[in-house]
Amino acid sequence: MTRRALVTGGAGFIGSHLAERLLRLGYAVTVLDDLSSGLREYVPAGADFLRGDVRRLGDVQAAFARPPDVVAHVAGQASTVRSFDDPGWDLSVNAVGTLNVLHACLAARTPRLLLASSMTIYGHPERLPVPESLPPRPISYYGVSKWAAERAVLLTSERTDLPAPFRATAFRMFNVYGERQSLENPYQGVLGIFLGNVLRDERIRIFGDGEQSRDFVHVDDVVRAWTDAIDREASFGKAINLGSGERISINALVDAVLRAQGRDRSGGVVEYGPARPGDQRHMCADLSLAREVLGFQPAVSLDDGLERTLAWARGQAASAGRAP
Ligand SMILES: NC(=O)c1ccc[n+]([C@@H]2O[C@H](COP(=O)([O-])OP(=O)(O)OC[C@H]3O[C@@H](n4cnc5c(N)ncnc54)[C@H](O)[C@@H]3O)[C@@H](O)[C@H]2O)c1
Repeated sequence: MTRRALVTGGAGFIGSHLAERLLRLGYAVTVLDDLSSGLREYVPAGADFLRGDVRRLGDVQAAFARPPDVVAHVAGQASTVRSFDDPGWDLSVNAVGTLNVLHACLAARTPRLLLASSMTIYGHPERLPVPESLPPRPISYYGVSKWAAERAVLLTSERTDLPAPFRATAFRMFNVYGERQSLENPYQGVLGIFLGNVLRDERIRIFGDGEQSRDFVHVDDVVRAWTDAIDREASFGKAINLGSGERISINALVDAVLRAQGRDRSGGVVEYGPARPGDQRHMCADLSLAREVLGFQPAVSLDDGLERTLAWARGQAASAGRAP
């Protein structure tokens, strides 16, 4: 029998890739998204689309009209910076939204929930690469809301008083990048922002000294891990890092983006601004747990992933140029 999957946030960057992969694997897919940062055209053909806000329980319940076998809760506000502008809004989208999805799962007896958590819950970790066993100590409101969401679904997964089986897995994703990452939205992934800058001939602005480092992982590697986890019992009840296991400084990343476009820093194309609150200094995923429970092995190198993303971004820029 065809299994049903609900992908919240399936009109966004990561969610649309996940919805696409689930369709390819034979799932009947429904997407719930309020289109606040996602695009209707990113919802893959073949998926049902419901426009709704995860902060409203009624909207979430509507997406459970035909109870899914698995829910991938990807919808969320994804910006550390915006969480400082409006912490209450951040908490309501990321934490209350998750509690609504959790509530609907239990009411519909949906047995499986996968959650988009984040490396931001680690704050300034005491060692690198960061294993999941380090105590969470977020330094942004975004990290706090992701931690609350993650703990809520995992504690529910541990409950023994529920009438039906319920198992959750949370993915602590590091810096995910790839095709369909926004090239315009200044609050989204840093690589998409830099690519947009370079293609539009704008100056690149680095916050802080640029020596902070990040772990970039391609979206294809990430969504493969999500779908591999669905039936993998070893992943039930766990929070699992998803990264590449390698880190690169923001300065080196900017140089790589410029180089890929046949350019360098001449002409003062790179400028520096003050570091922003909530900025972590160094991040790199310890992938031991992902390897052990999912056999996770990132397949897309940063060079290849950058090339692919840039090719897609050039296509976007060309079609924007052709628009009337
Ligand atoms: N991109 C990363 O590097 C990264 C890393 C760690 C965690 N995450 C998390 O992964 C998820 C997806 O991130 P993304 O990079 O694809 O961002 P995105 O903004 O492209 O995707 C988020 C999607 O959720 C939708 N959405 C937002 N608020 C909603 C609401 N209240 N109700 C319904 N839909 C809503 C948006 O319209 C969008 O389609 C987010 O939860 C984010 O916090 C992302």
